[in-house]
Order: sequence, then structure tokens, then C-alpha cells
Amino acid sequence: MYSFMIAIGNNNEMGLNNGLPWRLPKEVRYFRSVTEWHTIIMGRKTFESLPRVLPNRRHIVITRDKEYIFEDPNVIVVHSLEEVFEICDNREENFIIGGAEIFKIFMPYLERIYLTIVHGTFKADVYFFPLDMEEWQESKKWEATLDNINNIPHTYYVLDRKVQL
Ligand SMILES: NC(=O)c1ccc[n+]([C@@H]2O[C@H](COP(=O)([O-])OP(=O)(O)OC[C@H]3O[C@@H](n4cnc5c(N)ncnc54)[C@H](OP(=O)(O)O)[C@@H]3O)[C@@H](O)[C@H]2O)c1
Repeated sequence: MYSFMIAIGNNNEMGLNNGLPWRLPKEVRYFRSVTEWHTIIMGRKTFESLPRVLPNRRHIVITRDKEYIFEDPNVIVVHSLEEVFEICDNREENFIIGGAEIFKIFMPYLERIYLTIVHGTFKADVYFFPLDMEEWQESKKWEATLDNINNIPHTYYVLDRKVQL
């Protein structure tokens, strides 16, 4: 199965200058706890926005550039959705981690969304598209606990597709 993992602001903001519009280390730790030991699938720009190859995860990077090479045993470079489907085991949970372009092309195959809403408006240059909430049911919801560093209120949701694919 394929799941999205995404954090957005009040206006669907999701990226700025090839990074995130906010700093929330707790949200990053949550991302790690959910995706660790799984496959993470991402666009080339999101891959290049990561600080490093993330530990304990197989990375699939999508690019149109046939010359793009990244030498690392945990990174596979592909050029189409079909290649992703060939590589991934559909019986496992595979995580699409962005960005906006990649979310768009995977939407029809998606069964679950790990959605974090960061309660604020942010300067951004990449936006998520509005979800059709008729298609999704809320399976879990909880509020983040805040501290001096993680000081922007945010809510975690797990949404499941109402009609199974
Ligand atoms: N808030 C969040 O949860 C979150 C999550 C992830 C990312 N982000 C942010 O989002 C931004 C990056 O997102 P983005 O939408 O600009 O870029 P992206 O989706 O990460 O990557 C776009 C690239 O993917 C490749 N691509 C896209 N469609 C393709 C297709 N059909 N076939 C083959 N390759 C394809 C192309 O690579 P080539 O140009 O190499 O051909 C394209 O330039 C950053 O700011 C990042 O920090 C935020």
C-alpha cells in the first residue's frame, strides 16, 4: 500500500527555498518514527532538500534526468511511477514523502495520509493541493505538546481512504 506523509500550514503551505517553512524538531522525529524501516519515495527536489541519506530507510528518488546518479546502497533512482510499482512490495506500507509534484501523481494509488497541520500562515513557494475530504475518514487525531523549541501548535491526523482501492 502507499501512504503520504505530509505537513502543511493553514493555507496548504509545504515548502520554502527547498526546505520546510517552519522548524519543528518533534515533527521531524515523528516523521522518523513512522517511516523508519520502510521505503520512502520522493521527488528529486525533496531528496536534495534532505540533510543526508536518512538512516534505516530505502530511498526511491524520482527524476526525469536519465543521467542522475546517486551512489548509495539505500538510494534507488527511477524515472517513472511504473518503476516505483515494480520495486515496491504492495503488501508493505510504502511512504510517499513529497514534494507537491510527486504527491499529485501518486494520489490515485493512495490509501492513507499521515497529515500534520501546522497552525499558522507561512511564507512558502510550494503548496499542497486541497484534499477532497469526502474521500477520507479520520482514523486518529492528536495535538502536539509544545515546548520552547517546538512552539508552533500543530495537530497530527491519520486519514484512511473511505472506499478501499
Ligand atoms: N511539508 C512537507 O511535508 C514536505 C514534504 C516534502 C517536501 N517538502 C518541500 O517541498 C519542496 C519540494 O517539492 P517540489 O514539489 O518542488 O519537488 P519534488 O516533488 O520533491 O521534486 C520534483 C522533481 O521530481 C521529478 N519528477 C516530478 N514528476 C515526475 C515524473 N512524472 N516523472 C519523473 N520525475 C518526476 C522531477 O525531477 P527532475 O527535475 O530531476 O527531473 C521534478 O523536478 C521543498 O521545499 C521541500 O522541503 C515539504
